[in-house]
Amino acid sequence: MRIPPLFLAPVLACGAGFTGPQSCQPCHAAQYARQWDTHHARALRPMAQSPMAEHFDGQPLRERSGIGFEYRATPAGVAVAITQGQTRVDALLGWAFGAGSKAFTAVGMLDGRYVEHRISWYRASGRFGLTLGHPAQPSPDPATAFGLVQEPGTIFRCFNCHATGVRETPRGPDLGGMIPGVTCERCHGPGQAHVEAAKAGTPPRNSILNPGRFPARQLVNVCAECHRSPNAASASPMPELEDPLSIRFAPVGLMASRCFQKSNALSCVSCHDPHEDPRPAADPAYSRVCRTCHATRAGARAACRRSQAGVNCLGCHMREAAPAPNLSFTDHRIRVYER
Ligand code: HEC
Ligand code: HEC
Ligand code: HEC
Ligand code: HEC
Ligand code: HEC
Ligand code: HEC
Ligand code: HEC
Repeated sequence: MRIPPLFLAPVLACGAGFTGPQSCQPCHAAQYARQWDTHHARALRPMAQSPMAEHFDGQPLRERSGIGFEYRATPAGVAVAITQGQTRVDALLGWAFGAGSKAFTAVGMLDGRYVEHRISWYRASGRFGLTLGHPAQPSPDPATAFGLVQEPGTIFRCFNCHATGVRETPRGPDLGGMIPGVTCERCHGPGQAHVEAAKAGTPPRNSILNPGRFPARQLVNVCAECHRSPNAASASPMPELEDPLSIRFAPVGLMASRCFQKSNALSCVSCHDPHEDPRPAADPAYSRVCRTCHATRAGARAACRRSQAGVNCLGCHMREAAPAPNLSFTDHRIRVYER
């Protein structure tokens, strides 16, 4: 196992009642040992500490327009020089979003504004490509080629979904008390009161949030704060047909499943340990979850004829699909497919 990175160490520097994951470690060693190196915990890194910096370092890339990008890793991030003939723009990419399980996207600054870089790195191809959502046509000039300017409210939301303890200001995110990545207190809330109570004796139950006490729908909503929920006013019964990209948002599909709607018991943690990366789809644990309802539970039909012991249900009822180049996701609307 790798040694936990040092930059998480100054736990007391964190603001507003956040104490940092290492303060939980002495008493919750089991959760800590599994969580600290997950894709959640690595969902955001300063560029210089992300593997993305190595992918960039020394790369010359060129757009069809002829605009060239040259990258150099520095202790402050990745410096990029963007050139077109005599025009040149220099900028610094300070943040790497994503753990790299599917992709990395770089965020930098230009003229005091946050910019999402036009070029991302994708695991599926092992290469750089256009960032999802960016215009495909060639850029008119180097500054535009750097990427899309993100308004303060938008860039705050990026940081807030990928990190812990981020505060909003009118100028954008306040990163002063931030712990990069989705760590303990992003899901359980600030831990200071609980840590103090626990050190003094037995902590009262309500000293920290335990989503495990929630009914299924509310628990899904904890994950959906970031993984997105269906549009409450017009939740589609077949979201993946209306918008193929919606399969990226697991709660949207899951909440449209009859398994979820009719059981009042299925939630994200039925299949995923929130403190671990997901097991591969081939893992028999998933089909065991299906059988907990479809073998015995009242209200759920007996599983289909094809569901003998040992068969993996997912290939027929919960498939993977690629709604965008280089990105594939598991369609969480559990169902009988048309074909
Ligand atoms: C000094 C020891 C100690 C520290 C530090 C500590 N806890 Fe706890 N925690 C406990 C004890 C004791 C309990 C109650 C017994 C149990 O369920 O394990 C508990 C319970 C919990 C629960 C369940 C609460 C419930 O109502 O079911 C959560 C969630 C939790 N801790 C999260 C955290 C997080 C997150 C941190 C770090 C910010 C943390 N704890 C730090 C000792 C500690
Ligand atoms: C604060 C925002 C946030 C919350 C809350 C959150 N997630 Fe995530 N989750 C993320 C981000 C960001 C990623 C992408 C990490 C990466 O780049 O691979 C992710 C990735 C995942 C993955 C995929 C990891 C991989 O290996 O590809 C699973 C599974 C997951 N989350 C499950 C959950 C569950 C279950 C809950 C609720 C208990 C939850 N998440 C709550 C932000 C969040
Ligand atoms: C509402 C919460 C939320 C916001 C806002 C958000 N993300 Fe994410 N991000 C997630 C979650 C959840 C995942 C994992 C599942 C997925 O891919 O959607 C993720 C995944 C990613 C990934 C990994 C690739 C992938 O698709 O798994 C990158 C890179 C990323 N986000 C960058 C960004 C950037 C840059 C912004 C701002 C422009 C941003 N995110 C805004 C929640 C969010
Ligand atoms: C992505 C959200 C998420 C993150 C990050 C997270 N947890 Fe949890 N945690 C949950 C959920 C959901 C539950 C309830 C379901 C369960 O126990 O699996 C839970 C349950 C717990 C419990 C109670 C376990 C029990 O037996 O009742 C403790 C203690 C805990 N987490 C500690 C931690 C610590 C410590 C960290 C950081 C190292 C952490 N969690 C990170 C979502 C999260
Ligand atoms: C019935 C089981 C099941 C439930 C319930 C479930 N998932 Fe998944 N999830 C899976 C499987 C299977 C995979 C694929 C794992 C792999 O191959 O890496 C997966 C993968 C993911 C991924 C990784 C990206 C992808 O799409 O492959 C994310 C993120 C995720 N789940 C989030 C969630 C969230 C959030 C919830 C609750 C709304 C949830 N899941 C509920 C079975 C489930
Ligand atoms: C918490 C209980 C529960 C779990 C776990 C569960 N289901 Fe279901 N499922 C139900 C209920 C309830 C229904 C609706 C009543 C019925 O048709 O049995 C349903 C319906 C279905 C249907 C019919 C869907 C439709 O649109 O008509 C299929 C197929 C299905 N489940 C497969 C699965 C598979 C595969 C898994 C595991 C990946 C799974 N279920 C996990 C409870 C569950
Ligand atoms: C080889 C593909 C395949 C596999 C594997 C498979 N199913 Fe099915 N399942 C189907 C098809 C097709 C249907 C549609 C009804 C039919 O033809 O029996 C179905 C229907 C269902 C239904 C709805 C039953 C009904 O009366 O309409 C449930 C529940 C179900 N499957 C659960 C499961 C579970 C749980 C597993 C794993 C233990 C599983 N299936 C494995 C193909 C499969």
